[in-house]
Amino acid sequence: MKEEQLRSSNWFGRTGKDGFIYRAWMKNNGIPGHEFKKPVIGICNTWSELTPCNVHFRDLAEHVKRGVLEAGGFPVEFPVMSLGETLMKPTTMLFRNLASMDVEESIRANPLDGVVLLCGCDKTTPSLLMGACSVNLPTIIVSGGPMLTGKYKGNSIGTSDVWRLAAGLQTGTVNEAQLHSMEDALCRSQGHCAVMGTASTMACMVESLGLSLPGNAAIPAVDAHRKVLAQHSGSRIVEMVRQQLCLSDILTREAFENAIMANAAIGGSTNFVIHLLAIAGRIGVPLTLQDFDRLSRNIPLLVNLQPSGAFFMEDFYYAGGLPVVLKELDGLLHGGTLTVNGKTIGENYKTAECYDRNVIATATDPVNTVTGLAVLKGNICPDGAVIKPSAASPHLMQHTGPALVFESIDDYKNRINDDKLEVDANTILVLKNVGPKGYPGMPEVGNMTLPKKILEQGITDMVRISDGRMSGTGFGTVVLHVSPEAAAGGNFSVLQTGDLITLDVEQRTLEVHLTEEELQQRKTAWQPLPPHVSRGYVQLYTQQVQQAHLGADLDFLTGSSGAGVSKDSH
Ligand code: FES
Repeated sequence: MKEEQLRSSNWFGRTGKDGFIYRAWMKNNGIPGHEFKKPVIGICNTWSELTPCNVHFRDLAEHVKRGVLEAGGFPVEFPVMSLGETLMKPTTMLFRNLASMDVEESIRANPLDGVVLLCGCDKTTPSLLMGACSVNLPTIIVSGGPMLTGKYKGNSIGTSDVWRLAAGLQTGTVNEAQLHSMEDALCRSQGHCAVMGTASTMACMVESLGLSLPGNAAIPAVDAHRKVLAQHSGSRIVEMVRQQLCLSDILTREAFENAIMANAAIGGSTNFVIHLLAIAGRIGVPLTLQDFDRLSRNIPLLVNLQPSGAFFMEDFYYAGGLPVVLKELDGLLHGGTLTVNGKTIGENYKTAECYDRNVIATATDPVNTVTGLAVLKGNICPDGAVIKPSAASPHLMQHTGPALVFESIDDYKNRINDDKLEVDANTILVLKNVGPKGYPGMPEVGNMTLPKKILEQGITDMVRISDGRMSGTGFGTVVLHVSPEAAAGGNFSVLQTGDLITLDVEQRTLEVHLTEEELQQRKTAWQPLPPHVSRGYVQLYTQQVQQAHLGADLDFLTGSSGAGVSKDSH
C-alpha cells in the first residue's frame, strides 16, 4: 500500500500550514518525521482505576504497541469513556450508547488507519465495537482476559456466588464477617469476572465473530500468553490496514449466525442478545430476536462453566478455550467466514484440541441438551422476551401462577420482605419499569432476590418476569427484556397482582390469562410515569432509546457514517 493511500496521509502527508500543525504538535513527544509515513494504529483504551476489570490495560497496550512497531506501524494510544460495572450508577447500560459515541467520533476525527480495541468489563466490549462499526476501519479486538479463579477456604468461588451470598444474608445463613472474608478471596488477580458472565460472553462473542485472534476469549488476564496475543494483534492490525480488511468484510450475516450458535453452546449471558442486536444495527446486518431462538434451538450446552455449570474461565482456558467449542460445532457453523488473521474460522479451529472433557463436552455427549437461550412471545411480550433455560429450574419451565406485581424497583425493595406479603413458591414475581426508558437504562435487577419468607422455606427459585436485564453471572427461572417495556405502555404495563400467568419455555410462550378486550380496557386508564430527568444525556437517552428487541441503541445511532470527515482543514 502506498503511503498516500493511507487515511492518515490526509493529515500527516499534507503540505503547508495544515500539515505543519498536524505534525509539529505530535513531535513534542519525540516522534521522528519518518513515523508519519507509516500506518497509524489507534489503540482505543478503556483503562480506568474506576474500572477494576480493565486496570491492567496500560500494560496490555504496551504489548500491542510492540507488535505495531514490529510490523512497521505507528501506534497511538487514546482513552475513551470506560464503563466499570461494579461502581457506576445507576447502571452502565445507561452509558453504553454514550461510550459508543465517544469511540465512533474519536476514531473518525483522528488520523487513524486501523484500530485495536482493548475491551474487558461487560459494556466496554459492545460500546467499543458499536462505535468502531459506525466508522468501519480495519479493526481488531484484544480482550483483557478473566481473573484467576477465586479461592475461599479451599473452595473455588466466583461472581455467581454473590447471588447465593445475598440470599444467605437474607436468611441469616451468612453474616457480614463471612462476607468480608470472602471479599478478600473473590478477585485474586487483574481481569474481568471469572465465570461465563457478560464479560466472558462478550470475549467469546468477538472471537466467534472473527474479530480477535483465535484463543483470545479465555486466556487469563495475568497469563503471559495474553501479552503475546496482544503483541501479535498489534502486528496483525498493521497487515490488515495494508490489506484494507475492514469490519464490514468480517461482520457478515454468517459471522453473526456463528456468534449466536457459539453463544448457545457456551451458555452465554442473556446480555449477548441485546448487545449483538445493537452491533448488527451499526454494521447494517439484518438480525432479529427470532434469529437467536431459531439458531440456538439445536445447539446443546457444551461448556460446564458457572453460572450454568461448575467451572471457571481459567479452567476453560486450560481445557482448550473457545476454538474447541467451535470445532465441536463444525457442520453447524459457517466455517468459511473470514476472521482478522486472514484465515477462515474453520481453518482457525481445525487444529483445536480439548484437554479436559469435564469442562468442554463433546456435541454427542453435551453438558446439557437444554439450549442456552430461548425467545418467548405472547400477550405479555408481543415483541419478545428472553430466558436462559440452562440457568433455570427444570420444574419451572412450564408453570402457571398468580402474579405479584411490583410497579418499580423501589416498590419491590419496600415490600419484598414484608411479612404480610401474600406469596408462595407458586407465585410469579413481576417487576415493571426497569426497561430502557423506564428506569432509565435497563439495569441488571431482573433476577430479583426472593422474598425472605420464601428463602426461609428452603426454596431457591421462582419464576420472575421483568423488562430489565440480569447479570450474566445470575441464574434462575428469570424472564427478561420484556418488550414493549412497561414505560412504553404495552400489555406488560397493565399487569396486576393476582393475574394468572403461564410460562411455557418449550412452546416459547408467555401469556397472561386476560382477553384482548380486558387488556385494552386497562390500557385506556394507563398513565406514563413522569420523566426522571429533564436535561442532559439522560434526557436524550430516554427520548431516543429503542426497545430491547432492537438492541436498545439510540435510534439516531443505528447505521454507519463511515470513515470520511466532511470538513478537513483548520
Ligand atoms: Fe467487570 Fe464483572 S465486574 S466483568
